[in-house]
Amino acid sequence: MACSIILWIATLPITGFAHLNSETSLDRWHAPGAHKVSLRSTRQEPMPMQGPALPYPLFSPMFAQRERQNVKVKYEDANDTIAGIGISPPLNIDFVNKFPKFTDPSTVFTYPNTPMDSNSGPPLVSPAIVPLGKLPLTDFISNRKDILYYGPLDFGTPAQQLTVDIDTGSADLWVASDCDECSTKQFRTDQSQTINHDDEDFSVAYGSGEVFGTIAEDVVSVAGLTSEQQTIGLVEMESSDFQGYPNSGILGLAFSTISSTGKPTLFENLMKENKLMAPFFSVHLTRGTEDGSELCLGCFDVTKTTGQVKWVPVSSKTYWAVNITRLYSDGIDISVPDDFVAAIDTGTTLIYVPDPIAQTIYSSIAGAKSIDRFGPGFFSYPCTSSPDIRFTFGGIEFEMNDEDFNIGRLPDSSDCIGGIVSLGSDFPSNIAIIGDEFLKSWYTVYDYSNGARVGFAPSINNM
Ligand SMILES: *[C@@H]1O[C@H](CO)[C@@H](O)[C@H](O)[C@H]1NC(C)=O
Ligand SMILES: *[C@@H]1O[C@H](CO)[C@@H](O)[C@H](O)[C@H]1NC(C)=O
Repeated sequence: MACSIILWIATLPITGFAHLNSETSLDRWHAPGAHKVSLRSTRQEPMPMQGPALPYPLFSPMFAQRERQNVKVKYEDANDTIAGIGISPPLNIDFVNKFPKFTDPSTVFTYPNTPMDSNSGPPLVSPAIVPLGKLPLTDFISNRKDILYYGPLDFGTPAQQLTVDIDTGSADLWVASDCDECSTKQFRTDQSQTINHDDEDFSVAYGSGEVFGTIAEDVVSVAGLTSEQQTIGLVEMESSDFQGYPNSGILGLAFSTISSTGKPTLFENLMKENKLMAPFFSVHLTRGTEDGSELCLGCFDVTKTTGQVKWVPVSSKTYWAVNITRLYSDGIDISVPDDFVAAIDTGTTLIYVPDPIAQTIYSSIAGAKSIDRFGPGFFSYPCTSSPDIRFTFGGIEFEMNDEDFNIGRLPDSSDCIGGIVSLGSDFPSNIAIIGDEFLKSWYTVYDYSNGARVGFAPSINNM
């Protein structure tokens, strides 16, 4: 992990640094001395003054503003998509039935060899049969905030290692390749003996963070599991919005019904090619720690959780979409639309809700108000208050952590910015995007079997 970060720093152009320095605390990189020195010497501005040591870092608007814009475009068609309009045909997933029945305790093995209650959901299968696909992830932290989680994949033959952001809110795998403006490591397709180029164009809109390129197939491995003919977007052009992030691409882990190519995702190919123990993957996201996050492919890592999994059925096999049946904030039950749906999205940092819901949530918090100096969508509230916010998915209530809700302090103020952001009145009133801010409290399991469902188990972060 450290290796890919150092590489990135070493190859980042000076202009990239200037841009980054104004927003990013570089101190978190435990790069060896030499790198650290050269890195510091390229600094063009001092770090922002934080004032007296307060428990809350200053709110750094860049990533949040950018993300809000990106989320609006990423989910632009979500209301139709969730209703099944304009999507690709679903993958035939009858094959999930050939996996062991997890409700049957006799076939249950756990990892690492811990006995499990038969009702506690996804069990694990013996590592002796198939290797467990545990991919360590790195938490990209900026200004003491967790921004995104990424890990290494191997592309082509011989393998080239490139890092990707783990995104359950999209369904394409893409990496930078032949990209002049890209500052991260790229896929050298001319050096892969197994690449097969298509003549098709590839483009995905992640907000103003749009990417363009072509499509190819090649061998891709993740945590020792290999998809022989994986569709890959080769991105030749990305918008400047992708500058400042450490990853070379994105690994979409939603259903391929929403992929721009209509081809199976990497995880779906691994299922089809019989490379997995189980038809689900699980995600652990750390809080404020670079190491320790993990994507578990075909497995459930009991060492990352402190309790049982609670299962919520997926209401549309597009995003990992679940029904929000109730929302509670500081003693108030917030009325939600009947068709209110949440996309569980590891590729989004914050939580985004329709405007009327954001207004109601903040009106329940004493001293909270809408604030417009960072553009639309943001609210402030007294830093010392600890709002009690709970989402009910499919009838099961899940609390969020008030530390994660606080995304930074305003300068010269005792107010902080809240991590639930409004998508504005031009966004559908029935869709919420539940990002890492929530998922740091809940270890999540994305299960293609049992009709498709998302499992939530309490994360070790909250011990
Ligand atoms: C989700 O909510 C819709 C609208 O109320 C309902 O028709 C659907 O059955 C629900 N789906 C699940 C999986 O609970
Ligand atoms: C969402 O889509 C459904 C079906 O296409 C439509 O009836 C509904 O009005 C839309 N809701 C919003 C908030 O756009």
